[in-house]
Amino acid sequence: MSAKNWPPYELLDDRVEAAEARTRKLARIYHVSQEQAWDGRALLAQLIERHGGVHVKPEQQESLGKILSILLWGELAAWSISAELAEKLDDVDAKMAATSQVFDEARHFYVLRDYVRAAGITLPRLGGLSKKLLTEMLDTHDLARKLIGMQLLVENIALVLFKQIGDARIEPVLTDLLPYYEKDEARHVGLGVLYLPKLMQGLGRVGRARMWLFQLEVNLLSLGSGLNLREDFHILGLDPRAMTDYSFKLQRDVFRRIRQEDDRAEGGDGEEHSRARAEQDPNLKGMFRMSRQGQQRFTGFLHPGKPLEELDPTHRFFLGGLIKAAAATNRMFS
Ligand SMILES: [Fe+2]
Ligand SMILES: [Fe+2]
Repeated sequence: MSAKNWPPYELLDDRVEAAEARTRKLARIYHVSQEQAWDGRALLAQLIERHGGVHVKPEQQESLGKILSILLWGELAAWSISAELAEKLDDVDAKMAATSQVFDEARHFYVLRDYVRAAGITLPRLGGLSKKLLTEMLDTHDLARKLIGMQLLVENIALVLFKQIGDARIEPVLTDLLPYYEKDEARHVGLGVLYLPKLMQGLGRVGRARMWLFQLEVNLLSLGSGLNLREDFHILGLDPRAMTDYSFKLQRDVFRRIRQEDDRAEGGDGEEHSRARAEQDPNLKGMFRMSRQGQQRFTGFLHPGKPLEELDPTHRFFLGGLIKAAAATNRMFS
């Protein structure tokens, strides 16, 4: 340290402290992942033995196959994307976090593949919109898009499906397996929360607007994909309204965590400060968000709790149109 720069006042700067805290948390994702790594082969064998095999009800096999197909290829996509992030992110701690995710996703993929084999389910080819959603993530060369798309949108869908399938107790081995996935996936979101603001800071206005449109597209693809699975959700006893609610809750949690991290960096004090700044937060600009009221209205529109025929004509017209559009788009991308 040269005399010219002494004393190093920046050591007292809260922002440096906050950035270091962020870095420590990113590296911690890697270490926690190592500590909590589970042996996929041993666990699956043990669960299959405990429950005397995998027994999926014949009437649920086809629908479960469609959902497992999305989850399985989603895991493979997450594996590829996290590997790319591990290679391309230039921050060592973020690299470590992404590297640990690569190991997790590889385990998620092979365990789910082995489960499908043990269940004797033939997986259908991936549906048009779901495939489009995953290829959007794989194709983009923009790291910020990759990170937001994978970590905050696709991981969110996986968490929602895992939780609902587990809660619905469709098949005992799967029910016992999914909490292991959920725990890992919840940790993966941390990389997005901690590192995304840094990537977003490098974007200008146009970049942020493009990012917003990209998220809108991914959200619409995910919505369309969900609409096409309405019948299958019903057969499996999954509640689409609860899924939408849970998905919004997870998104709100992520945005709140990004704000809290940002508040710490700016020296803000807690929840109130965080709420007050939510709308102007530079780190959340370019993020596709809906107000809580908007989310409630959206959920009410999408899941009115009664058949289409019993809805008022306007609601029926728009919801019916959306369902048809989702089916047509699905065919278009198939
Ligand atoms: Fe995963
Ligand atoms: Fe993941």
